[in-house]
Amino acid sequence: MKINHIYKTDCLRGFKKIDDESVDLIFTDPPYYQNRAQNVKGLKNHKDVVTEFKFDGYASETEYLEFIENVLCECYRVAKNGASGYLWCGDDFVSYINRIVTKAGFQFRKVIHWHKTNPFPAIYTRKMFANSMELLVHFSKGTPKTWNHKPVNEMHNFIESPICMGKERKKHETQKPLKVCIPFIEISSNAGDLILDPFMGSGTTAIAALTTDRNFTGFEIDENYCKIIDERITEFLLKNQNFQGEKPCVK
Ligand SMILES: C[S@@+](CC[C@H](N)C(=O)[O-])C[C@H]1O[C@@H](n2cnc3c(N)ncnc32)[C@H](O)[C@@H]1O
Repeated sequence: MKINHIYKTDCLRGFKKIDDESVDLIFTDPPYYQNRAQNVKGLKNHKDVVTEFKFDGYASETEYLEFIENVLCECYRVAKNGASGYLWCGDDFVSYINRIVTKAGFQFRKVIHWHKTNPFPAIYTRKMFANSMELLVHFSKGTPKTWNHKPVNEMHNFIESPICMGKERKKHETQKPLKVCIPFIEISSNAGDLILDPFMGSGTTAIAALTTDRNFTGFEIDENYCKIIDERITEFLLKNQNFQGEKPCVK
């Protein structure tokens, strides 16, 4: 495994490249489970009410949860003692995720709530509230070794920000804003640390790591998203011409 490389591969294959106890922080945003609304009583056409993404194709809830468990077991193997982990999920799966992190060996710590100030609006005929929250599950391998406490009013398990917009926005449906990732990376890692994201998407974790002088490694299965990561890395290097770290790349 090379530092600051993103591998274009399935993460469960990619994990084989990573040594035991070599990662300081896990920060990730796995695929969601697209059929979730089928289980909600009274929703005749779930396509109407739930956004589906091409990377969400799991045959069943069981298959999806087994996949997440396999990923989290690998995360546990590669995490150093005292490493923290953060995993994004929706409100429908958060209690499963909490149990799976514990089953994998981690300590569950807290659920952090991101309030999206500009969500897709609630539509009267759907009789449902707007989906304006995403959740970030914080867990650790033993007691967290790094805890760079910020001012107390920045240590709430709540963060507010619009969804990714403007120049930062790339063609990825679930791109997370850097603003809602960087604070947690700063709290739970130090400059020079290695951050792993098995589901890089548009490369947000990589850019957040570079911006905060951390290193990264990770995987992304989709060729087009890998091209976006490559573009974001090029943009970062153009803006930071005196960048001294290991040269980042996607392969
Ligand atoms: C929720 S998105 C991550 C978005 C990311 N946080 C961002 O800000 O751009 C999940 C990503 O995981 C990728 N993915 C899905 N299954 C994968 C697998 N088995 N191995 C590696 N990547 C996978 C998808 O292509 C998708 O880009």
